[in-house]
Amino acid sequence: MYRIGQEEIDAVARVINRGELFKTTENGETFYFEQEMRDFFDVTRVIPMTSGMAALESALVAMGVGPGDEVIVSAYTYIANAVAVIKAGAIPVVAEVDESLSIDAKDVEKKITPRTKVIVPTHMLGYPSNMDAIMEVAKKHNLMVLEDSCQAVGGSYKGKRLGTVGDVGALSFNFWKNISAGEGGALLTNNKDIYEKALIYHDCCAVAYFGKQLEGLSTPLFCGDEFRTNEITSAIMRVQLTRLDGILADLRKNKKLLAQALSGHFEFAPQNDPEGECSNVITLKFDSPERAHDYFDKNGLIMIPAMMGKHIYSAWDMLIEKRGALHPRMNPFFFEENKNAPEYKAGSCPESDRILNSVGHVNIGINWSEADIEAKAKELIDGLKK
Ligand SMILES: Cc1ncc(COP(=O)(O)O)c(C=O)c1O
Repeated sequence: MYRIGQEEIDAVARVINRGELFKTTENGETFYFEQEMRDFFDVTRVIPMTSGMAALESALVAMGVGPGDEVIVSAYTYIANAVAVIKAGAIPVVAEVDESLSIDAKDVEKKITPRTKVIVPTHMLGYPSNMDAIMEVAKKHNLMVLEDSCQAVGGSYKGKRLGTVGDVGALSFNFWKNISAGEGGALLTNNKDIYEKALIYHDCCAVAYFGKQLEGLSTPLFCGDEFRTNEITSAIMRVQLTRLDGILADLRKNKKLLAQALSGHFEFAPQNDPEGECSNVITLKFDSPERAHDYFDKNGLIMIPAMMGKHIYSAWDMLIEKRGALHPRMNPFFFEENKNAPEYKAGSCPESDRILNSVGHVNIGINWSEADIEAKAKELIDGLKK
């Protein structure tokens, strides 16, 4: 989905010619990348990291999540989301999705217990979750919100960039994302306390804190992990960031044309913010799971969410089998504080199973010509006749 070219080659050459590959605090690529990200996302604090999972884990730790806590995650999200909760020592609780394929605020509310600390809406495939409803539930129950925006970098909800509506946002820059350096991620927040703790956790040996970055922190250093980025990644990402709105504009234009060509033949899954969504895919809605699977069996052409492997709760074997760590004493499922952990099994989110089996995604090509779009529409419509 990302675009890459000569500008990134030049950026990498700049770093190599300078001979400074390590993250520096001032006047390096990472320093400027952080600044440019803050401006782009309109947040006060950004921490570039090695991956989206690193951002999720650092966020949860910084939000104070630990043994005895529960974090509500979506039945349709990447497994990394649930694993990050386990890494923080807590227990993921899975909530249903609604027809928009994102976490259902009503089911979230049903799953809140005295142990719940954080809600994690995931903006899957560029589709914003219903943030108004989620923020309302969070406010009512005094919970924090971590937006998993790994698959929706640059998208927005009611004019705000995804990842900046809740308390913290996590972005991924892996190979499959809107912008990429092969790997990478970032944490976004306006919360100083969460920022400080995530900053320490993501680079606990503090070797990257040359200069003034540690000055004024009120949190004492504690043992964490090493998720810090490097100058080559930041140099590539600085260029990628300048491409992001252009990428989204092309995806949105192509999706609009494909939707026009398909209208009258297909219905589409409802969306929480059609203007802000990234348009990575168009999602065709079928009358029933049987119709969707029949179409898929005869044509291929669509990606049924329930068949997307580790993106659906029923395929999270590590959780289903309670393998929360290699060493049994480090496994949060065996902690006394977590004795209320639910059983994870296929069928425990029946609404999600129905919804995620009744639709099919079609990837939007960023470089499609009008002829490509016409051909794609024809292929999809012809598939209905088989
Ligand atoms: C929804 C979602 N969350 C988290 C992640 C983890 O991101 P990363 O691969 O950068 O760790 C991914 C990765 O594909 C994802 O799709």
